[in-house]
Amino acid sequence: MTYLNAKNNQKLNTRQIRSFKKKTTNKNLQMLTCYDFQTSQLLNETNLDLILVGDSLGNVILGYDYTIEVSIDTMVLFSKAVKKGAPEKFVIADLPFGSYASMELGLANSIKLFQQSGVEALKLEGAYTQELQLIERLTQIGIPVMGHIGLTPQSVHEQGGYYTHGKDEYSQKKLMNESLALQAAGCFAIVLEFVEQGLAQKITEALTIPTIGIGSGTMTDGQVLVINDLLHLGKNDPPKFCKPLANIYQTKKQLIEDYLK
Ligand code: KIV
Repeated sequence: MTYLNAKNNQKLNTRQIRSFKKKTTNKNLQMLTCYDFQTSQLLNETNLDLILVGDSLGNVILGYDYTIEVSIDTMVLFSKAVKKGAPEKFVIADLPFGSYASMELGLANSIKLFQQSGVEALKLEGAYTQELQLIERLTQIGIPVMGHIGLTPQSVHEQGGYYTHGKDEYSQKKLMNESLALQAAGCFAIVLEFVEQGLAQKITEALTIPTIGIGSGTMTDGQVLVINDLLHLGKNDPPKFCKPLANIYQTKKQLIEDYLK
């Protein structure tokens, strides 16, 4: 069940998102990724709460091995297309790898992405002092920011691969502190990617802003999925935590084969 319903299909705003908690609404905040105009037109007509133009487009659209290869110009291009198709949705765009490596770079690239694409908010990975200061500055100048911790694909090499975070005491304390710091810095919501589910629940309970989980169990305030996984748009099987609704890859392949006959 989504936050909004069909009769009230209006764009969410940061005040509404910031105060959303599953335990008081008994609903999930639902976010899906999107990377193109036609799909965003379709999502615009649904009750979906939030659209994310994730840098996962590097993997599923551009065929890169890592999101690290995605540039700020690529994010501007795709975010603009998605926003054009979904004027009635709250759209969030990812700041890509390296684009916020310093305060100066982060400000310039955030303003560029926000201004040129027309999205409602940006998302960035990590919660070190540098990121916290940037989030504070961005919210001061009017750019809402969604945080993202746990498995952060832009740091895959530094983190040593893709795995569940928050299994040991050190990592649990770190993630809890990071969540509180992101909230204090001004984030309106936080993505918890591959965070151990018990910890994801504790973080969700400790925060006043919503948590949006992916591979982090069902106790977060919302869920995010890569649309290509949900619809099985690609050749490879989606990750285990995502049960695809259909196999659109096979369906499309069959249609083309039938046509060619
Ligand atoms: O890039 C992306 O799609 C993301 C989600 C998986 C949260 O960051």
